[in-house]
Amino acid sequence: MTSFDEPARDHGHATSFDERAPDWDTPERRERAEQVAAAVRASVPLRADTRLIDIGAGTGLLGLALLGDVGELVLAEPSGGMLAVARDKIAAVGDGRVSAVRFDLTADPPPGEPFDLAVSMLVLHHVENTPAAMAAIFGLLRPGGWIALADLDTEDGSFHEADTEGIHHHGFDRDALAGLARAAGFVDVGFRTATQVEHESRRFPVFLLVARRP
Ligand SMILES: C[S@@+](CC[C@H](N)C(=O)[O-])C[C@H]1O[C@@H](n2cnc3c(N)ncnc32)[C@H](O)[C@@H]1O
Repeated sequence: MTSFDEPARDHGHATSFDERAPDWDTPERRERAEQVAAAVRASVPLRADTRLIDIGAGTGLLGLALLGDVGELVLAEPSGGMLAVARDKIAAVGDGRVSAVRFDLTADPPPGEPFDLAVSMLVLHHVENTPAAMAAIFGLLRPGGWIALADLDTEDGSFHEADTEGIHHHGFDRDALAGLARAAGFVDVGFRTATQVEHESRRFPVFLLVARRP
């Protein structure tokens, strides 16, 4: 039995994601990214000049799925292994509007100018301090900027292996997370179900949290 996204031997994320990066892009994960990208398109305004950051981008599956809808894309990721794969993909795409930066959401300053939109997929449950994560994401945005963050609804812990490290939350309660988003300063907070992940005959819904910095 293999876990979907087990991380964390080093500083809570790096080592395992480094090791898994070369094999990360499975058909299932590509499909999941396309479904979340479709939910993002249906939820937030995207324009030819939108500056987008994909937080915890991994190999860039979600951000690159949205590249045709935006003006500029930054893939922000702390794992060197993931970054190396993302940079290979950027080179293959040959599009100067995309860059990849080493970035830990709760430890590093914003990478460059403020963003119009911040997206993430299955990252929040790896960050222990959710209020700090929300505050850091708020700080990445220009006034009027949007977030579209995908993660698991509350689950019983069976999504990951029992001994998996770096899993700080077994999904999220939507109302509780909405409260944390509002406490960070976000407005127009809403949710939709973006997709679901099948694992050992069980289905785990994946929400998309959408909100705006006033
Ligand atoms: C389950 S993977 C998801 C990767 C990618 N978003 C995807 O869906 O394919 C979780 C990602 O979150 C990243 N991550 C963990 N802690 C982080 C943090 N504090 N700041 C930013 N990214 C983090 C990991 O390095 C990893 O790439």
